[in-house]
Amino acid sequence: MSLKSWKLLESNFQKNAQKKIIDYFAEDAERVKNLSIRWESFYVDYSKNLLDQETLDLLTSMAEESGLSQAIEAYFEGGKINETEDRAVLHTALRQIRPSSINVDGKNITPKIEKVKKQMFDFANQVISGEWKGHTGKAIKHVVNIGIGGSDLGPAMVTEALEFYGNRLQLTFVSNVDGDHVEEVIKKVDPETTLFVIVSKTFTTQETLINARTLKKWFLNNAPESAIGNHFIAVSTNLEKVTEFGIAAQNIFPMNDWVGGRFSLWSSVGLSICLAIGPKNFKALLEGAGKMDQHFRSADFKENMPVLLALITVWYNNFWEVETEAIIPYSQYLRNFPAYLQQAIMESNGKGVDRNGQPVNYQTGNVIWGAPGTNAQHAFFQLMHQGTKMIPVDFIGFAKPLHNGNDHHDKLMSNFFAQTQALMRGKNAKTVREELTKQGKSPEQIEALLPFKVFEGNRPSNTLFIEQLTPANLGSLIALYEHRIFVQGIIWNIFSYDQWGVELGKQLANEILKDFDKERIDHHDPSTQGLIKFYKKFRN
Ligand code: F6P
Repeated sequence: MSLKSWKLLESNFQKNAQKKIIDYFAEDAERVKNLSIRWESFYVDYSKNLLDQETLDLLTSMAEESGLSQAIEAYFEGGKINETEDRAVLHTALRQIRPSSINVDGKNITPKIEKVKKQMFDFANQVISGEWKGHTGKAIKHVVNIGIGGSDLGPAMVTEALEFYGNRLQLTFVSNVDGDHVEEVIKKVDPETTLFVIVSKTFTTQETLINARTLKKWFLNNAPESAIGNHFIAVSTNLEKVTEFGIAAQNIFPMNDWVGGRFSLWSSVGLSICLAIGPKNFKALLEGAGKMDQHFRSADFKENMPVLLALITVWYNNFWEVETEAIIPYSQYLRNFPAYLQQAIMESNGKGVDRNGQPVNYQTGNVIWGAPGTNAQHAFFQLMHQGTKMIPVDFIGFAKPLHNGNDHHDKLMSNFFAQTQALMRGKNAKTVREELTKQGKSPEQIEALLPFKVFEGNRPSNTLFIEQLTPANLGSLIALYEHRIFVQGIIWNIFSYDQWGVELGKQLANEILKDFDKERIDHHDPSTQGLIKFYKKFRN
């Protein structure tokens, strides 16, 4: 990496490598004030990190030196920043608080965005109110979203996260090409009262098309062909393929190629969300994201949440050589937020060549994983506290619960705070000795147990603390992570908006599929031949 600030950060790292997070607190009485941000309903505390003001200054200089300010403008203004696909990246255009014109290929895209939103809202209102009927005249009760990747993860995660704001409609998501997934869905739905929403940007995705065909076939075993119009809806850019599938023009919700799949929940891809929570809440979700967009675009880097959090990730990834980052939401509603972020982050920044096509000689995309607290505490937190790896954590929590019950929420919050504290402070030998002495252990017993009971601490975390889980706050939170991905891509000088790495597997799967009915498979490597042979024994 040739950036000047990168070299200075290396020296800063060497200088402070032995320092502990608690030392930084001891040095600076104002640390929390200086290393936290209060914005709208958000309180982001990044003081429990292995860095000081000088590190942060160097990190923000690095952002400037990378051309981040100009890059942000190009991103919002519709520059074709997805160069390898020759596309703009404009999910932000879908959630402008005050819609203004944005040009793509010399054409203002805003009127069309507003038109599709209206189409979505009118449709959602009809279905929710019961005005939209199934083919036998009954109101729709169940919505099945058929999609995969960004056409599934975002809608599924948000629908689940905002379940509290749901209406009478029941939502189910089918994504996996594994027939067991769709068969379990079929068991639950009634052809008279179910609406199928097929979501595929390209309408060529194998998994989605086979699931859609299987559901259509099952539906037509239970209903006449003329009933398709009441029960099958599609979201896609590929109007031709949707029509071929048998969906009428008025049942197609268009989208555009300037929305990347993993950033598409704000577009017509979010139709299932809109059905689940209603247009009013969907608009609030968009507005929350729009506010975060404004913050990201206008705040100084030193007070800019997506920028600072992105830089902290780069700090650990590239200077501390940390490989993974855990995301722990202290909310059962956000149980699939880590899975959603895995696609958003890892599909975006899992790249090994830079913008000039040259192999990078530094680490890029970090590995993302996580599960909701407190369950995660009883699963993998042992390794985070006492294992040999440093794992920076994002703790995400909400100050006000959605259901009454301070008894539960106090306990949840005390765990939320305790874990960040325990990771940072650890427990030293002196404290362990005192505790064991109080328990009446002998000096020999104490010395034997000591190494197992000491926590070295000094493990970093960010706390993203939000007033309450509302549609608007969720919108802001998702947008925060989206922009964080963007910033990291700029620093690492990689293209964040393509995903060529998923193509090879798809291509080979299509070739292998044909070989199941062929005698000769010796063009495959010996291991794959063995696997295909084993499969063929059981294939009927
Ligand atoms: O996994 C690759 C990918 O292209 C994702 O980026 C995308 O979200 C997903 O497949 C689904 O694609 P589509 O919406 O075109 O079916």
